[in-house]
Amino acid sequence: RKKIAIMTSGGDSPGMNGVVRACVRMAIHMGCDAYCVYEGYEGLVRGGDLIRKMEWYDVRGWLSEGGTLIGTARCMAFYERPGRLTAAKNLILNGIDALIICGGDGSLTGADRFRQEWPSLLDELVATGELQAEQTHAYRHLNIVGLVGSIDNDLSGTDATIGCYSALSRICYAVDLIEATASSHSRAFVVEVMGRHCGWLALMAGVATGADFIFIPEKPSEANWREEMCNIVHQHRALGKRKTIVIIAEGALDRQGSKITPTMVKDLLADKDGLGLDTRITTLGHVQRGGTAVAYDRMLATLQGVEAVKAVLEATPETKTCFIAITENKIIRKPLMEAVIDTKRVSKAIDQQDFDLAMSLRDHEFAE
Ligand code: F6P
Repeated sequence: RKKIAIMTSGGDSPGMNGVVRACVRMAIHMGCDAYCVYEGYEGLVRGGDLIRKMEWYDVRGWLSEGGTLIGTARCMAFYERPGRLTAAKNLILNGIDALIICGGDGSLTGADRFRQEWPSLLDELVATGELQAEQTHAYRHLNIVGLVGSIDNDLSGTDATIGCYSALSRICYAVDLIEATASSHSRAFVVEVMGRHCGWLALMAGVATGADFIFIPEKPSEANWREEMCNIVHQHRALGKRKTIVIIAEGALDRQGSKITPTMVKDLLADKDGLGLDTRITTLGHVQRGGTAVAYDRMLATLQGVEAVKAVLEATPETKTCFIAITENKIIRKPLMEAVIDTKRVSKAIDQQDFDLAMSLRDHEFAE
């Protein structure tokens, strides 16, 4: 019987439990044994009871649970070859040669490297007497398939990463709540959302809530961003708007590559010689990442989990490490490393035209 292991890695995202449930059940449905590696790469390195066989009912009710029930961790040991050697040994001792990993691009890149190194890891394990040659014969290839779990929606080649719509919904809900109190007091709020390198959440939240101004890492603000923002906010106020919402991604930058912080924006809005708005900062933080997945993420997790098991069973030594994407509503397999390279090259955040269109609907754009 084929043994397939599933693990979650990197920052958790809503929908990861749906992925584990789908992979475990699909693996069993396909006549395989399903394993979970607990605590991400840490579990691969430490082995023991962190690699557990799963049964159909072990994942009952997991679709509606937030976070990842099998844990995740940032594992320094896996960055070093000795850690990966131990990980390879643990997999072989458990009889596992197929791995499905749900995580961000960093975790998936680590997986691709592991797969490429696999034959040399086995050779070294045999040469050093850690394993007998015959123990490794059935495991000459490690099949790996990735699923993209990230609230940031930060991988090229897929329309949505698992978790991004849950985080976006939570942000919109929070901004709606903030708007009520902002409007009551005629206040301004600077809302900081996650996205260290990717502004998709900030941008889409801005679009979905009709924010007055947005800062994202991919579209560094012009040198005159201060004047531009104050001017727009001033126009909105002059048109009778009682609330001001500025959404800023964690990784927001100006043209010089310097960080734009919520405090800088707040001080500007509050400046007595300028707008003089009573301004507060709300940092949404990990509220965005925790909690249960919205329907879309559950659906994505399930359909992609099923496809990942099929992909790992069909993989040959020649197949490049793939990940499961959704494009134009189709669940498809794509080469992982091309998407990773593309992500570094192009900005996934949004098409400039879409950005301009969304921004053009703000109050000041309508002149009677
Ligand atoms: O999950 C990705 C992400 O949300 C980033 O946008 C954010 O910068 C980061 O995780 C923060 O995560 P942590 O607090 O776990 O380092």
